[in-house]
Amino acid sequence: MSTSISPFEWLTSPESLGGLIQDHVLSLKSSSSSSSSSCTALHIGCGSSTVGEYLVQQLNFSKVVNADRDREILEYMQQRCNDKRMEFYCYDYYKEKLPNQYTEYFDLVIDKGTLDCTLCSDSTAVASFLIEVYRSLKKLAIESKSSDDDNDNNGVGGVYLVISYHELDLMLPMLRDMPGAEWTVDYTTMERQIETLPSKHNNNNNNGSNNNGSNTNTNDNGKEKEDRNDNIIQSQQSSTTRKPLNVLIARRCCHNSNIEKELDFNAICQHVETVNNRWFQEEQPLLTDKRIQELKYSFSILSLEEGYDVIFTAAERESLTYEHFLEDWSAFTIQNETDTDTDTNTSSNSDITDKTNSNTSSSSSNNSSGMHMTYEMALNFLRENQ
Ligand SMILES: C[S@@+](CC[C@H](N)C(=O)[O-])C[C@H]1O[C@@H](n2cnc3c(N)ncnc32)[C@H](O)[C@@H]1O
Repeated sequence: MSTSISPFEWLTSPESLGGLIQDHVLSLKSSSSSSSSSCTALHIGCGSSTVGEYLVQQLNFSKVVNADRDREILEYMQQRCNDKRMEFYCYDYYKEKLPNQYTEYFDLVIDKGTLDCTLCSDSTAVASFLIEVYRSLKKLAIESKSSDDDNDNNGVGGVYLVISYHELDLMLPMLRDMPGAEWTVDYTTMERQIETLPSKHNNNNNNGSNNNGSNTNTNDNGKEKEDRNDNIIQSQQSSTTRKPLNVLIARRCCHNSNIEKELDFNAICQHVETVNNRWFQEEQPLLTDKRIQELKYSFSILSLEEGYDVIFTAAERESLTYEHFLEDWSAFTIQNETDTDTDTNTSSNSDITDKTNSNTSSSSSNNSSGMHMTYEMALNFLRENQ
């Protein structure tokens, strides 16, 4: 067995989830079927967590599929858990699907920190992930089934249980308003229960920031997303940060089992992007009224280094290094020069004179191709990179 890997729990212990699973899965299941031991679960992004063992040994689940893309961890898990009720599946949910036998199969899809991690990637990764989760959940059968029906739906739809460090304002609309999804989404909070807090660097296999191929793209708020991921890691480390976790409970239903449509991948990508961008604009605006005033008075024409110090707070500079800022600045000035060229080509001569005097894009082209920063450029830069 690999000695470098050991059991590790993100966010909270398996035991702390017992009550939630009892209330939202087992109690409903057992009231409508003969035995609660017919329950199946998918632990998506299982890492080296002991959630699977807890489900089969303590809650009597009949099968738990532990899925992760980290082969080494899964091999370790397989050696650790010698139990026929535990299965292991190595795959990357951005690119692949679970086998068809698991379509509409699970009573519970458990996600402890995995959607949080996936949100640090781009919207296509999040959409693939959510579609995969949805597809795996048992569907609520509308018409009552005969007791000898193989598909043991028993009128209870599968539950996607998300344990998240992120804000409810972000997570709830992400799930509740997912286009095409027929599920009801409930939520609550829970206290974290973690005995041993890991260090960011001594458990690389579980370090979400390394595992997600984070695409940094200013339009996607990429740097803020990396920052958000760092917050998760810091929260693991800091014994003083005991912020309650958000819990989302999405129960799959089906209003009309005969006319079920496939989820639309593009619509879900768009939805993820919209919810994400709206959340950042509302919760962490780069351009507040106060900052606009401050900028106005502190600006003449600054070098980029001076501008960087003026337009970002110390905390923002920690997550956006000067080198990253230069990359964004370069993209910004190139874009503005392109816009200016387009404007110039479509404008009359008098328009050109007006624009040259008034707008920022022309400031950048007048300004040694963006080697300096004016007040207007700073505002536009912050607006575009929100
Ligand atoms: C934050 S950890 C959560 C681990 C576990 N659920 C727990 O509670 O301790 C996220 C896990 O998701 C896995 N993961 C990340 N991206 C993945 C992908 N595209 N496909 C499959 N697994 C992925 C990582 O390898 C990691 O083990």
